[in-house]
Amino acid sequence: MSIGDEQKELLRLVEALAAKKPPSFGKSNDGLHDARSNKYWANLLPESTKKRFQKAGIDIEGGYPAFPAQEDIPKFLDQAFSVRDKIEPFTDRGTFARPDKKALFDAALEVRDLTKHIGTEIVGLQLKDLTTEQKDDLALLVAERVVVFFRDQDLSPQNQLSLGEHYGRVEKHPQAPFVPIPSSRNDPYAQGSGVSIIWLKFLKDFYGIRKGFRFNNYPWHTDLVHERQPAGLTHLHLDLIPATGGDTVWSSGYAAYDKLSFAMKQFLDGKNAVYCSGHAYIDRNDPLSGPKFVEREHPIIRTHPVTGWKSLFVNRSMTRRIVGLLPDESDTILGYLFSVFENNLDIQVRWSWQPTKDGFGTSAIWDNRVSQHYAVGDYDVDEDERHGTRVSTLAEVPYFDNNSVSQREGLGLE
Ligand SMILES: [Fe+2]
Repeated sequence: MSIGDEQKELLRLVEALAAKKPPSFGKSNDGLHDARSNKYWANLLPESTKKRFQKAGIDIEGGYPAFPAQEDIPKFLDQAFSVRDKIEPFTDRGTFARPDKKALFDAALEVRDLTKHIGTEIVGLQLKDLTTEQKDDLALLVAERVVVFFRDQDLSPQNQLSLGEHYGRVEKHPQAPFVPIPSSRNDPYAQGSGVSIIWLKFLKDFYGIRKGFRFNNYPWHTDLVHERQPAGLTHLHLDLIPATGGDTVWSSGYAAYDKLSFAMKQFLDGKNAVYCSGHAYIDRNDPLSGPKFVEREHPIIRTHPVTGWKSLFVNRSMTRRIVGLLPDESDTILGYLFSVFENNLDIQVRWSWQPTKDGFGTSAIWDNRVSQHYAVGDYDVDEDERHGTRVSTLAEVPYFDNNSVSQREGLGLE
């Protein structure tokens, strides 16, 4: 066999193996599901979630969660890179809002800022009933406050999806399990619905990852930074919340930028960094080199298109290196920048989801362009149930505007 033939044979074998089980896709070998069936998981679904789905007309008879079709799951790096590689127009709905956010604020019972720099809770409104003006005001509020919370929500996955669609192109993850949403046109199981699932008990079993007190699997990160147009707003709705624990913490990218010295700001303004995907793929040109992540370059300081404020766009999980620096220089500076987000409690908000009425849930909507978040894993994954649905919208191609200002400059604080 010539070397060329050997290479072809190797690639054929790798393709056959990848078709059997794509990398990063669960721990089983049947290619589509966990070693247990998704019927098994449908039966384990918490009662309050079942109630929510029944009320929404979501039939989980076919199993739960639903999975992307095998042929649609990218196995190779080049395939994954080409997913959503084409630039799509995006206009942030926050640009349509009134600066005083009157439609939203006048309708709310209370608007409660949780900390000085980040986090606002809206009391007395149902997300499913928001008018177009109120949705746009909310986009502006999230852009300014980074994360906004709503308790006691009567929200179907369909309501959540349509709110996400108002804000932009909804991300349909090529690998992640999803909620099967009925549609007149398509088999709900045939393709991703755009509503993905946060259910650690299932994900622990599905991906075979270690969870528990001694493991920290959801450290500081920002969602979907490897995309050509990374995530703008993410809406997480928890319909089952542990009696104690399971909080989430967010940290502000605007405030992290403002923590830096003038000299450091100047140094970083206009520089790019490399960001990687959460899932790994096979390199077709070097299939035995092990799983690799999709990498893309973005500005390390981003300008937010609605507020016009600069934000530090790094996170420990997915920012690999600063372009143009030596590896040691990059590691040292990134290490410091990560710590700015992680160590400054005055730029963070910790949200206690708190159990709510049966069939109801709590929502958090945050802006990934200007934040990192951290899921506190202090509940017992097997005993204390925590289940939710998530919709993410993709935003603009990240950019840095040299004429933009920091948040504190914009607010006239310095
Ligand atoms: Fe996340």
